[in-house]
Amino acid sequence: MALTVADIRRRFDRAGASYEAAAEVQPVVATHLAGLCPSRLTGRVLEIGAGSGLLTRQLAPRLAAGGLYVALDLSPGMLGHAALPTGVCRLAANGEAVPFAPGTFDFLASASAMHWYADPAASIAANVALVRPGGSFALAVYVAGTLGELEEASQVTGFGSVYPMHPASYYRDMLQSLPGVVWQIKETRHTVVHDSVRALLKSLKGAGVTHTAGRREASPARYREFVQYYEAHFGAGGGVAASYHVAVVAGSRPAAPAC
Ligand SMILES: C[S@@+](CC[C@H](N)C(=O)[O-])C[C@H]1O[C@@H](n2cnc3c(N)ncnc32)[C@H](O)[C@@H]1O
Repeated sequence: MALTVADIRRRFDRAGASYEAAAEVQPVVATHLAGLCPSRLTGRVLEIGAGSGLLTRQLAPRLAAGGLYVALDLSPGMLGHAALPTGVCRLAANGEAVPFAPGTFDFLASASAMHWYADPAASIAANVALVRPGGSFALAVYVAGTLGELEEASQVTGFGSVYPMHPASYYRDMLQSLPGVVWQIKETRHTVVHDSVRALLKSLKGAGVTHTAGRREASPARYREFVQYYEAHFGAGGGVAASYHVAVVAGSRPAAPAC
């Protein structure tokens, strides 16, 4: 069953207090993306899915005096727990219905958030249109293959499930359809080794990354079978491995040449 926007907001509202302690791969992705962003930002910056501020804390200090940094997130609970630099504006709103006109921003950033969109292709295209000619953007979204171990163990044992993610080609096709935008996309892969399956599930829950777990799926017998399967097939380094596949996009909207 697909998650609604309200489901996603609720999950992240619950994760607000635990997110930074639980998130393992997200800090790595945020730092990688920050490395692709300009070392100096000017004008207006919009970050979508700012969450607890892992990327915000790296980008906002780069903003020149007189600039505006808007940290937008669907979840008031995440924003409420976020430690953000002074001057950053917190905005609780849906990135798929952003309350700004096209061309409002000089720079757009988003890490580990837009794959939660109900319609990523249409909504990311609308987000990129918020960037003015001459502006640029950097985005990191999770793609198919993420938590592939968990997906296999779930399918075999019937315990739990993984939030469905699009392949990197879906994002490439979307970018190709955008007029007047220059971009590049690269897929990066990360493996996190957790002490145990229990620790993996706890980390995912703490970071808001849980998906469906109906009553039947969560029965103790299925859970035991799931843990055994996961340990037997994906044991690594004294624990268990979890993979994350991330599409990292950097782009710009060149200014129209002067006539
Ligand atoms: C995994 S967290 C990432 C937070 C932060 N960017 C980071 O790198 O740690 C995903 C964030 O995306 C937000 N999010 C999910 N769907 C969203 C939407 N439709 N609009 C805006 N934010 C959304 C969640 O509330 C959550 O804070």
